Amino acid sequence: LCRFPLRSVRGIPLMEPIAQSWESIWSFCPDPSDLLISTYPKAGTTWTQEIVDLLLHNGDAEACKRATVAVRIPFLEIISPPPIPSGLDLLNKMNPPRVIKTHLPIQLVPEGFWKNKCKVIYVARNAKDNLVSYYHFDRMNHTQPDPGPWDGYIHKFMKGELAWGSWYDHVKGYWEERENRNILYLFYEDMKENPRHEVERIMKFLDLSLSDDVIGSIVELTSFKAMKDNPMTNYTFLPEEIFDHSVSPFMRKGEVGDWANHFSSEQLQLFEEDYERQMKGTNIPFRMNI
Ligand code: A3P
Repeated sequence: LCRFPLRSVRGIPLMEPIAQSWESIWSFCPDPSDLLISTYPKAGTTWTQEIVDLLLHNGDAEACKRATVAVRIPFLEIISPPPIPSGLDLLNKMNPPRVIKTHLPIQLVPEGFWKNKCKVIYVARNAKDNLVSYYHFDRMNHTQPDPGPWDGYIHKFMKGELAWGSWYDHVKGYWEERENRNILYLFYEDMKENPRHEVERIMKFLDLSLSDDVIGSIVELTSFKAMKDNPMTNYTFLPEEIFDHSVSPFMRKGEVGDWANHFSSEQLQLFEEDYERQMKGTNIPFRMNI
């Protein structure tokens, strides 16, 4: 096992094995009943996956626990080292309606999702916390390129040189299309601030109507603490050679505003000036604190 290098696919740096199998990923055709959960890495993917799965199982935690979140909800483009099968292998063994995870920017999402008008849930997280979380993830995830020192990592993030490309383009791409396509655009910060409200929004988007008690239990089952203690969601099921939780746990802090513990004042100034440039003309309501 090694840290895979990145290779550009249509201008987006992807891990080498994903770039190699790009044609089969691009030609994947979903069923109209399939649901896509899309994020830039570290924006709250696993959290949203667990909420969706519990909603679809009427809050039945046991039903959701039968397999890990990685197997229940295939990662469309991932070519995993064993024991996790590849996303396409898993999907081809499942009957629709399926829930599918992706980190692809909108222009690389296979066209069948749009042709078939599939529902898409997009989760965005403020740039600074997203960057901090990605940095710690790249330290512990031995399949992604080594993050190197923090200062250099900030620059890679700003230049879109990390796996899955530019955060700025990613969040903007889905934002601009959210009304033309069937996209529910969520924010990590809203989920933290009022999880029940966001769980209810997802429920309505899925055309479900669950009792107040069930919604309440889903909120509890998907708290940071519950998911950190749940071996089906905390990724401790992966071998240490893949995710080394002793370097940094996958369920690390789960907070809004942890960026303040990482940036020096010079780094902050540089980052914010660049942010203004890259986000100019957009009005995505990101919150860096709640
Ligand atoms: P931190 O590194 O800031 O702790 P993803 O699933 O997209 O890889 O995102 C992982 C990030 O979401 C991590 O952020 C993780 O702690 C956080 N997270 C996961 N489940 C969460 C929950 N239930 N509540 C809050 N944050 C959660």
